[in-house]
Amino acid sequence: MSVTSEEKFQTGLMLELEPIVEKELNRHLTTADEWFPHQYVPWGQGRDFDGPLGGDGWEPGDSKLGAEARESLIVNLLTEDNLPGYHRAIADVFGRDGAWGTWVNRWTAEENRHGIVIRDYLTVTRAVDPIALERARMKHMETGYEAAHGSAFLHGNAYVSFQELATRVAHRNTGKASGDPICEQMLTRVAKDENLHMIFYRNLIAASLDLAPNETMRAITEVVKDFQMPGHSIDGFLRKSVVIANAGIYDLRLHHDDVLTPCLRKWKVFDRDDFTGDGAKARDELAEFMAQLDAAATKFETRREERRARQAARAN
Ligand SMILES: [Fe+2]
Ligand SMILES: [Fe+2]
Repeated sequence: MSVTSEEKFQTGLMLELEPIVEKELNRHLTTADEWFPHQYVPWGQGRDFDGPLGGDGWEPGDSKLGAEARESLIVNLLTEDNLPGYHRAIADVFGRDGAWGTWVNRWTAEENRHGIVIRDYLTVTRAVDPIALERARMKHMETGYEAAHGSAFLHGNAYVSFQELATRVAHRNTGKASGDPICEQMLTRVAKDENLHMIFYRNLIAASLDLAPNETMRAITEVVKDFQMPGHSIDGFLRKSVVIANAGIYDLRLHHDDVLTPCLRKWKVFDRDDFTGDGAKARDELAEFMAQLDAAATKFETRREERRARQAARAN
């Protein structure tokens, strides 16, 4: 098997980044607090279900959550549930050696807490139909997960920077929309983890921009242009994501303003003067794309406001 120049470039860059990964890993380990999923779950609200224990089957009236928060919690949990797929994808990108491998395992162990705590909360509070949830989990995990850019290092790294911030925003806003202080407290805790993950990946991209500005810029642009949420292969995702966007939990405006823009600003992509050739071209393409996205976000917001006004008028 011949080694392509692309593979040589990636291996060289990863070698140069290794001390930075080690530094970021140590920073993460000293910043991340230990926390326990079981302490965030209101076990006192629980009762047995039907089946071997002969309790009560779930009924729609059991749930006190609004439909939008419920849909969002289901999407967030199914996304977290698919962790084995992400573990494989991230291990393909980062490898298993040295600080890279240590990070991959640590990150996976932290992410697992998210699925544990959200599932326990939803089951104990009877917030969702547990049978439908389990069937959806089976279906989603059997679909697996395929990273859009395979094992390409810079693309994978840029993607997770945005994705961690996107999940942070989605968890945080789902908590707010739930109307349940216990749910909000739990999701605020999860969102804090996602933020630390984002910082790790974002700092690696910052270092990559210094080492290989043009290649990193190209990867960022390609990832922004075809970004999809990690749970996009969930059955019925499109319908669910419309409900979530209409509720203002995660929409184009948040994606543009609170996810893409802060990362791009931190990396100073529009202020740097070290892009040449394809790197400069990629930066210009990105500027154009961001302007189009901004316009699409405004259009969406206007339509949503008009729809809400019509609904309010009908209700009066
Ligand atoms: Fe997570
Ligand atoms: Fe995360």
